[in-house]
Amino acid sequence: MATYDDIEAVSLAELRAVQRERLKWSLAHAYNGNPAYCALFDAAGVKPDDCKSLDDLARFPFTSKSNLRDAYPFGFFAVPMNQVARLHASSGTTGKPTVVAYTKKDIATWAQVMARSIHAAGGRPGMKVHVAYGYGLFTGGLGAHYGAELLGCAVIPMSGGQTEKQVQLITDFQPEVIMATPSYTLAILDEFRRQGLDPKASSLKIGLMGAEPWTEKMRAEIEAGFAMQALDIYGLSEVIGPGVAQEYADTRDGLTIWEDHFYPEVVDPTSGEVLPEGQEGELVLTSLTKEAMPVIRYRTRDLVKLLPGTGRAMRRMTRVTGRSDDMLLIRGVNVFPSQVEEQVLRCADLAPLYLIEVGRPARLDEICVRVELRPGSAATREAVAQELHGRIKDNIGVTAKVEVSPPNSLERSQGKAKRVIDLRPKT
Ligand code: DLL
Repeated sequence: MATYDDIEAVSLAELRAVQRERLKWSLAHAYNGNPAYCALFDAAGVKPDDCKSLDDLARFPFTSKSNLRDAYPFGFFAVPMNQVARLHASSGTTGKPTVVAYTKKDIATWAQVMARSIHAAGGRPGMKVHVAYGYGLFTGGLGAHYGAELLGCAVIPMSGGQTEKQVQLITDFQPEVIMATPSYTLAILDEFRRQGLDPKASSLKIGLMGAEPWTEKMRAEIEAGFAMQALDIYGLSEVIGPGVAQEYADTRDGLTIWEDHFYPEVVDPTSGEVLPEGQEGELVLTSLTKEAMPVIRYRTRDLVKLLPGTGRAMRRMTRVTGRSDDMLLIRGVNVFPSQVEEQVLRCADLAPLYLIEVGRPARLDEICVRVELRPGSAATREAVAQELHGRIKDNIGVTAKVEVSPPNSLERSQGKAKRVIDLRPKT
């Protein structure tokens, strides 16, 4: 079992000891360094010293995106501005972005967890890494970039977009590793074929795909298309960016959470109660080492199960199946975009992309799933629409309108794919 960091091989007892020490530091740092945390802890009647064991963390208050928004732009920073080395921001669907900050040490930590992630996926010094995550305020591009450099790879900072050029650079520079969202990786795959090139013959061997939910079916499509391993990478700006959890190439059994820096809990999304291992709920993360913007019990809204480590002390999480705030409630039935994706990918005549439109033409919500025919498919659009309609009805339990358009007619994402358009009147 090759490791990048010694901590990947420590015993559970050693890991827990490290976490206990770091958690105490992080709680005190947040409380003493930031008035917003101080007020939140005081309102909940807890002091950093009340945390004697890791389980005591459950007594501390949650934080969420709305806390960060209310304190826009810098209200959750815990160091003076002259110690901040970098700002990033994640654009929400509405309103102001969430601003996050890093000290020099935070950037070094981030590079380290990203180097560890790329290594876990099979990346090695000397390889070339093509970064097609967006550079800029989004954490994907620069996070991948610093990690790959630290690991000792040659980085190709392509960023997202210019899909024709992506194909040209991959063909000419021969990178072994690609880092991109799964939906954009599929767009690059299509572009290879459009240019008459065989994507299987490309140099790509390893993909680190994340920033949006994707399914095993989509993984199979990417892996077969490029003849490469596509591994899941998870993270969020508020916690650090990409590099919070990563799937190991040798086990491919969920994502190992880099618990020496990010302490995970899974809670019931409604009651907030901490759930036992193996039960699905909302992932809550606490940073253990972050200086500029510590997060304490940050509610990610991402739905996962926590699982014990396999041959490693650090715990795993299952693939993110959806977000508690992305769940659609269609006539009383809970529907996640990933469930629709699964059914779309089961239809052999459909290209692996989709858009769900939710509307309320009369009193009741209705969904329309927009998909497109795979190039070369001999099926009629009506027949395929009927097939998908049936699959969605049988497997998810809702009646969806299905609109099948000709090949290459739906818009391709160049970063995170937009899966749902909500056309319902705002109440
Ligand atoms: O998306 C960071 C990132 C960049 C992760 C590149 C992986 C690769 P945000 O823009 O703040 O940060 O969005 C974070 O994206 O809460 C999840 O809902 C979703 N997400 C991230 N990774 C995955 C994944 C980056 N592997 C939000 N599977 C998170 C499913 C993911 N969802």
